[in-house]
Amino acid sequence: MLASKRILLIIGGGIAAFKALDLIRRLRERGATVTPVLTRAGAEFVTPLSVSALAGRKVFTDLFDLTDEAEMGHIELSRSADLIVVAPATADLMAKMAQGQAGDLASTLLLATDTPLLIAPAMNVRMWQHKATQRNIDTLRGDGIMFAGPNDGDMACGEHGPGRMAEPLEIVAAIETALADGPLKGRRILVTSGPTHEPIDPVRYIANRSSGAQGTAIARALSALGADVVFVTGPADIAPPEGVDLHRVETAREMLAACEAALPVDAAICAAAVADWRMASAAMSKMKKTAGGLPQLEFAENPDILATLSQRTQGRPALVVGFAAETDDLEANATAKRLRKGCDWIVANDVSAATGIMGGTENAVLLITDTGTEAWPRMPKDRVAARLAQRIADALAPETQ
Ligand code: CTP
Repeated sequence: MLASKRILLIIGGGIAAFKALDLIRRLRERGATVTPVLTRAGAEFVTPLSVSALAGRKVFTDLFDLTDEAEMGHIELSRSADLIVVAPATADLMAKMAQGQAGDLASTLLLATDTPLLIAPAMNVRMWQHKATQRNIDTLRGDGIMFAGPNDGDMACGEHGPGRMAEPLEIVAAIETALADGPLKGRRILVTSGPTHEPIDPVRYIANRSSGAQGTAIARALSALGADVVFVTGPADIAPPEGVDLHRVETAREMLAACEAALPVDAAICAAAVADWRMASAAMSKMKKTAGGLPQLEFAENPDILATLSQRTQGRPALVVGFAAETDDLEANATAKRLRKGCDWIVANDVSAATGIMGGTENAVLLITDTGTEAWPRMPKDRVAARLAQRIADALAPETQ
């Protein structure tokens, strides 16, 4: 898949640098050439010798190495790649990139190029969550830089949370997506998927039967057309697709926050089955049976993510697509829903138990747009996804904008 692709890999200084060695191996297995650049901090974690041995070529380490400058100037080095990958991208490197600093070889290369750029952040959870890093992430996303990860998990420093570098194969999948030629190349698309869980107390929650299958299939189909997909998913039954910018959430409010943090995007596809209600206040400790009778649960309305994105006055995605799961009067209800929420398209499906659609592998949908309704034949969810992805590509194509 990556045959003859040229990747400039910048290895930053973090404990995750050891995974960059495996990344080099995986990329070369797929036919890519990897030109490695090791930052001074990166060289504290992996040796130049092991990096160059795995890459099968010279590792560049210092801007002021005059021999290197004579052989290949840093400007040329940065432009002679199909993709620049930064893994691990430390908080420091990301801050330098966001600021446009050029104090060493890595940051100079990053400033001197217009080659597409993918970064795999890796840092302590607090550093990732810090407002300064979050500001830098917004800046970098706004500059069109693609992200692989970070993942949630246990970290080398003993803490747990987001900040762990994506696994080498996940980065490979993101690289394949970034280099894929397709009608959605260069487009950033948000997909929501799965159910949400709304806590009642620490052990109980409100949920629904959504498996996440349709949203996952749509994300995969959009990636296959070259889109840079931000995938915001509730706790779904099926595994998320590879090669997407994955954000796992539990509740509707977390999902909205993750979606807003993902902006700007060219299109938003809201396939999640978001819980309409949550507890007005979830109990902090487990609710116990009492002699006094049944518990009284007080509900509050959740934010409507689709409506919120559709009705933004600033930074509204060019195309917002919602889903309507109905059991009666499918077309009339879905048409009204499109207008009420303010989205551009509604993909409507009949989820009556007899159809077997909710939680099943097939779907039969109506696509409702401002020009009318199209009935698509019943087909597997991945075919619905592929057809929808192609329609999205047509809608975002420059001549129709
Ligand atoms: N949706 C959302 N946020 C919510 C509820 C729904 O983004 N809080 C989105 C879903 O992702 C889907 C669309 O809205 O794209 C339709 O959801 P649905 O639950 O069918 O609509 P409701 O607004 O709940 O309308 P109804 O009560 O008629 O079912």
